[in-house]
Parts: sequence; structure tokens; C-alpha cells
Amino acid sequence: MARKRSEKIMQRILSGIQPSGKLHIGNYFGMMKPMLAHMASSELYVFIVDLHALTSVQDPERLRRGTLEAAADFLALGLDPDRCIFWVQSDVPEVCELTWLLSIVTPMGLLERCHSYKDKVAKSIPASHGLFSYPVLMAADILLYQPHLVPVGKDQKQHIEVTRDIAIRFNNTFGETFLVPDGEISENTAVIPGLDGQKMSKSYDNTIPIFADEKELRKKVMAIQTDATPVEAPKNPDTCNLYTLLKLFAPEDKMAEVHELYVNGGAAYGYLKQDLFELINARFAPARKRKQELLDNPDYVRQVLAKGADKAREKAMKTLQLARERVGLKY
Ligand code: ADP
Ligand code: TRP
Repeated sequence: MARKRSEKIMQRILSGIQPSGKLHIGNYFGMMKPMLAHMASSELYVFIVDLHALTSVQDPERLRRGTLEAAADFLALGLDPDRCIFWVQSDVPEVCELTWLLSIVTPMGLLERCHSYKDKVAKSIPASHGLFSYPVLMAADILLYQPHLVPVGKDQKQHIEVTRDIAIRFNNTFGETFLVPDGEISENTAVIPGLDGQKMSKSYDNTIPIFADEKELRKKVMAIQTDATPVEAPKNPDTCNLYTLLKLFAPEDKMAEVHELYVNGGAAYGYLKQDLFELINARFAPARKRKQELLDNPDYVRQVLAKGADKAREKAMKTLQLARERVGLKY
């Protein structure tokens, strides 16, 4: 059963996020905003990957809370559950069986080359089998729903390549089964810098959390590291993380003024940080309020996720059934 990308069908788009920490600006611009932009014109699948989070979060209460919070994050930022399928990964247990079917065509070398695994072990996350086979579970997550596109930040690029590799191997071994998806990585927001200029990441403790209250938000923005160039001296906007962050929030005319100040001298980091704080605060204040309302009504959030899981499961069961047939588990 060949699946041609040229067929006139609505694009199916899928992405997931781990409920393992506070949503930050890197997550928002790298993954969430592109996903929300697809909502109007695509068949959108969005999920919270709690099984993946278990590789690093082994505190049940934290995982439970994190899962509800992650769901509230998405809903507060504008995900409309009536226009997408939104669920929690573990509510579709078919993903675990597919992980096994995929793991038998996954070469060890492919997983051994994964940077994410090596980085996590270097950061003292225990090198468990789960952590090692994380990309196979992610491949199952994706292939189960046969999406065309998977929007992610740059750090997930290799995992998408692994997914494609596994899908191709499975199709070659057992016959056409999975659509081979493409990653979608936006050039402008592939890597959002953190407070220290490295990639913004929960694991580097350098994030600006979207739902921080005003006081914490101000503190974080004021902690953005800048160099010691005096105000009057010209500065290079391309190497300044404050400038990169401002560009995400400031309107074009404001950014043109800031660019002038950088190039000709006169850019005062303190004032620019204050501007950035105000812009971020204004942008997310309504979502912050909405998130609190959702957290005050967790049963509503659970209901939304349960409905989404039913729909996701329908699709997942069809794909798993096909994969089972292909490998000979149906006799
Ligand atoms: P973290 O690195 O903070 O643990 P996650 O791994 O949970 O973030 O990432 C969730 C999504 O957000 C992924 O699609 C990831 O690529 C994207 N993302 C995370 N950090 C950034 C960043 N600094 N810039 C762009 N995208 C990012
Ligand atoms: N590994 C991704 C991350 O850490 C999360 C993830 C799991 C995911 N399954 C996915 C992302 C499927 C996209 C599609 O960010």
C-alpha cells in the first residue's frame, strides 16, 4: 500500500513535549508556536510524553503534577481541543507494543550515535535501558499516527532522522507500513538562547519560564548575561543573546531602533532588559491567567485529555494492527 506525499490530503502534523519542567521561551518558539500555527489548516496531533519523562522524572507526584501543568500550558496558550487531537502518551498503550516491533529493526549503532543520550548521561542522568532506547519510543510515538510533518527544535533533529531510518528499515523488511515523516525546524527559532547564551534548556538552568509571575520573570530577564561594552560603544547584535531574545518579542519598528543603537552606540543593556521584561510580561499575562483557571479546574483538563486519548487510540490501533500483520503476529 504505497502512500504518496503528492496525494491531496490534509497534512497530518504531530509533536509532543515532556512534562518534565516549566515551559520556557525556547519550547514556545521552537515547538509550541509552530504547532499552534498549524491548527487552522492541518490535522493536528499534540501530546504530552509522560513515558519519555519517566527516564528523568522518577517522582510520581512530580510527574502527575507536571502532566496536568503541561496540558494546561498548551490549552492556556491557545490550543483548541476541538480542532486537534490532544492527549497523554501513556493513555494509548499501543505505543509500547509498537516500540518493541520497531526495536527489532533498530541497529544498536544507530542509538549509540544519539547525542541526546550521550549528553544526558554526561549530565549524570543514569544510563538506563529506557534512556538508551528513548528514540525508539519516540519513533513509535510518531509512526503510530502516520504524520507527514513533525515540528521540533533543532535538538530533536537527530531523533527525527532516527525515526525516518527505523520506518524505512521496517518498510524494507516487512513491506510498506509507515509513512516516512519529515521534521520541521524553523531556521529563526531553531535554537533560542538561554540566560547564559547557551541553548535555553531546563537541564542548563538558564530558562525564562513563560508562566513565571512578574517578580520571577523580571529577575530572570535581569539575569541575562551581557558583555561589559560601555553604553556609548558600538556592539554586535548578532552575537548578543539579549538582542536575539528581544527580536522574538519586539515589533519591527522598535527592533530597527534597537539595531541602530547597537551598531552606532547607545544601547544600554539595563533599559533593553526592562523593555524585554515588559514585552514578555504583556505577551503572556492573559495566558498566565487562563492557565491558573485551568489548574483550578483539573477535572476539565482531564476530560479534554481523555476525549483526545480516545481519538488518538482509534488511529493508533489501526496502525498497530497493520504492523502486527506485517511481521506475522496475526496468524
Ligand atoms: P528542554 O531542552 O528544556 O528539556 P524539551 O526537550 O522538553 O526542552 O523540548 C521540548 C520542545 O521544545 C522540543 O521540540 C525542543 O526541540 C524544543 N526546544 C527546547 N529548547 C529549545 C530552544 N532553546 N530553542 C528552540 N527549541 C527548543
Ligand atoms: N523527545 C522530545 C523532546 O524531548 C519529545 C517527544 C517525544 C516528541 N515523542 C515525540 C517530539 C514525538 C515530537 C514527536 O522534546
